[in-house]
Amino acid sequence: MEQLRVELGARSYDIVIGEGLLARSGELIAPSLKRPRVAVVTDENVAALHLEALRSGLAATGIEMVSLILPSGETTKGWTEFSRTVDWLLEQKIERSDVVVAFGGGVIGDLVGFAAAVLRRGVRFVQIPTSLLAQVDSSVGGKTGINSVHGKNLIGAFHQPSLVLADVGVLGTLTPRDFLAGYGEVVKYGLLGDEGFFSWLEREGPALAGGDVAKRIEAVRRSCQMKADIVARDETEQGDRALLNLGHTFCHALEAATGYSDRLLHGEGVAIGCALAFEVSARLGLCAQEDPSRVRAHLKDMGMKTDLADIPGDLPDADALIALMGQDKKVVDGRINFIMARGIGEAFVTSDVDLDVVSSALTEGLAARG
Ligand code: GLY
Repeated sequence: MEQLRVELGARSYDIVIGEGLLARSGELIAPSLKRPRVAVVTDENVAALHLEALRSGLAATGIEMVSLILPSGETTKGWTEFSRTVDWLLEQKIERSDVVVAFGGGVIGDLVGFAAAVLRRGVRFVQIPTSLLAQVDSSVGGKTGINSVHGKNLIGAFHQPSLVLADVGVLGTLTPRDFLAGYGEVVKYGLLGDEGFFSWLEREGPALAGGDVAKRIEAVRRSCQMKADIVARDETEQGDRALLNLGHTFCHALEAATGYSDRLLHGEGVAIGCALAFEVSARLGLCAQEDPSRVRAHLKDMGMKTDLADIPGDLPDADALIALMGQDKKVVDGRINFIMARGIGEAFVTSDVDLDVVSSALTEGLAARG
């Protein structure tokens, strides 16, 4: 079992990473409780696979659990299920001193975190992320929220969890596609700030994807450590935290272009976006010409979507994709913020990117689709 700390003064918390943590959830959560009762919010998929394991883990230390099971999928992350969740928590008489548990992937973590942020003006919550993407990214750092008809994640609050329990044992029930989509975010950490981690992933990625538990724990630990350090420096994204958006400007445009459908999962878009960010960085003379090929080679080795050509169905042209990037919520004064790289592990934030270079990289990528 590994333990990390997100240092945020009075709002500091631990991230516990290991196998079999659901069975130990009672002893791990008990120190946070004023009374032995928690409200768990989850989704149908996770409930069918893991809710009883969580119930018995909590019961082992005498903690009673009530649960709400929401539909699975991104459409849950809107006002309807959000207000249902808040009303249910009130019906369950969850008090200011109680703890709410978000048990699921990114949709559940974001929605339940936001519900906890506003319930009685803020109650504590514990994240038990069940997807790789949620374990290495969305469960850590306190970004919570829901989608609006105007775009994804536009309604929300910063509300840090009190504890994150990342049980890598539950990753065994993910489909290979969902696992690899989450791995897109793991690769992102190596690419943005740690060349040594990226080299480790080049060596160990296939074993990790194949099910090696020790390597999964190490990948989640190193990813969470990097995120914890960045969040501790810049909790509300005034500066460095934007580095975590490497690949995301491209990804958000591609997700919008594919209608947020399962043609492209978020982590798949992040992987393709990282490859594009390195391609543009090389064309701008910021990093070595070999770097984009090295990034793409690793993604291909892992059997991941790597290029625009790997996205099924039609895509709009380069200008339309750039227009979609302009809708991103990270646009400041009409200028698109990009995360570029001076090398592998050396990302930086800039709005000073020649859009003609972006356009020619996208046009070539689109042309390769044949
Ligand atoms: N997922 C990016 C962040 O938490 O800042």
